[in-house]
Amino acid sequence: MEAVKIKEGIYWVGAIDWNIRNFHGYSTIRGTTYNSYLVMDEKNVLFDTVKHGFEEEMLTRIKSVIEPERIDYLVINHIEPDHAGGFLRIVKIIKPEKIFLTSNAKAGLLAYFHEKELPFEEVKTGNEVKIGKRTIKFFETPMIHWPDSMISYLPEEKLLISQDAFGAHYATSKRFDDEVDYCELIQECTKYYANIVLPYSPQVNKLLKTVKEMNLEIEMICPDHGVIWRRNIGEIVSLYEKWSSYQADPKVLIIYDTMWKSTEKMAYAILEGVIKEGIEAKICKLSVSDITEVMAEVMLSKGIIIGSPTLNNGLLPTVAGFTAYMKGLRPRGKIGASFGSYGWSGEAVKILNEVLKDMQAEIVHEGIRCKYNPDKEVLDKCKELGKTVAKKVKETFGL
Ligand code: FEO
Repeated sequence: MEAVKIKEGIYWVGAIDWNIRNFHGYSTIRGTTYNSYLVMDEKNVLFDTVKHGFEEEMLTRIKSVIEPERIDYLVINHIEPDHAGGFLRIVKIIKPEKIFLTSNAKAGLLAYFHEKELPFEEVKTGNEVKIGKRTIKFFETPMIHWPDSMISYLPEEKLLISQDAFGAHYATSKRFDDEVDYCELIQECTKYYANIVLPYSPQVNKLLKTVKEMNLEIEMICPDHGVIWRRNIGEIVSLYEKWSSYQADPKVLIIYDTMWKSTEKMAYAILEGVIKEGIEAKICKLSVSDITEVMAEVMLSKGIIIGSPTLNNGLLPTVAGFTAYMKGLRPRGKIGASFGSYGWSGEAVKILNEVLKDMQAEIVHEGIRCKYNPDKEVLDKCKELGKTVAKKVKETFGL
C-alpha cells in the first residue's frame, strides 16, 4: 500500500473501503474510498484524515514517501467521521504544528474528541497560507456537506481539494476519472448527489456561480471519495449545475408497493398510459428495490407518481419509509400524482398528495383511490392518469 503521486510533490494517501455495503443507509454496492492528500513543500501538509479503522492504511501510504512526523500542517476540510474518525490517532502520531479548519469544524471536533489543547488555527473564506512555493486558499462551504465544511485551493497547482463535493462511493485501484469505467463512475456520482448532496442544492448552485465568477483555474479536482477529476472536469461541473438547479429528464417514474396486487395492477396501468404518450417510463416496486437507486431515479425523472395501499389508516411501511427518506432529500421541480387501493378507510392517496405538496411538486391529478380490486373502469382511469402526467412532462420540455 503506497502513496499515489498525482502531481510533482503531491500524493493521494487515502484508504480504499472495498467491502462497505451500507454507508449510514446508503447502499454502497461498489464500496468507497476515504481520500487524503499529502502536499510536500517547505511545509508538508496533509489534507483530511480517514474513517476510524483505516488509519494504518493511510499511515502506510504516507510512510512510503515521508515519515508521518515530518508533516507540519493538517487541514481538516470536513469533520464527518468518514474523514475525521481517524483524526485523533493521526494527530497524535504526526503532532502537527497547526491544524487549519473552520470555526464550526473546531467546535465539531471538540464535541467529538474533547481534546482542547490541540494547535487549532481557525480559517475563513479568503484566508490563505503560504507553505513554500505553494499557497493554500480556503473557502468555507457550509452545508456542503455539513456546517463545518470548507474546500482548499492550491492556485500554483490549479488543484481544488473539494471534500465531499464531486465525490462518489466508488472503490477502485485507479485514482483518476480517465482510468475507470466512465459509465460506472457517472452512475455512482449520480447516486451520490441524489442521496447525499441533493438537500444542499441551493448552496451548491451558489458556490458554482461564485467559483465561475472568480475565474479559478482548475486542472484537478480532488474529492474525499472516489476518483480525482482531471479529464472530465467540465462534465462533472455541468452535471452539478444541472442537478443543483433541479433539472431532470423528460421521463416518468412510478414508485409503489402493494399488499394484494391491487395497487400493483394500478401501477402497471399507469405505466401503460405513460408509455402511450411516448416518453420514457420506469417502475419501482419498493419492497424489491434499493432505495439508494430509486432516489437517483427520482432526481433524474421530471414526473413522479407514487402509489400505496392504505394500511391501518396510513401507508404501507415500505412506502412510508421511502417517502420520509425522499422528503428529507428535498427533490424539487417535479410533476406528480398518486394512487392506491384500500379496503375501508383509504387515506393513502391523501397522505401521498401531502408528500408531493411538501416536495413542492406540481400535482396534476387529484389521484385515484380504488376499493379492493381495480376493474376495467378504474384501470382505464389509471391509464389516463399516466397520460396526464406524461403530457404535462412533455409540455414542460416542449415535446
Ligand atoms: Fe464523506 Fe460528509 O462525509
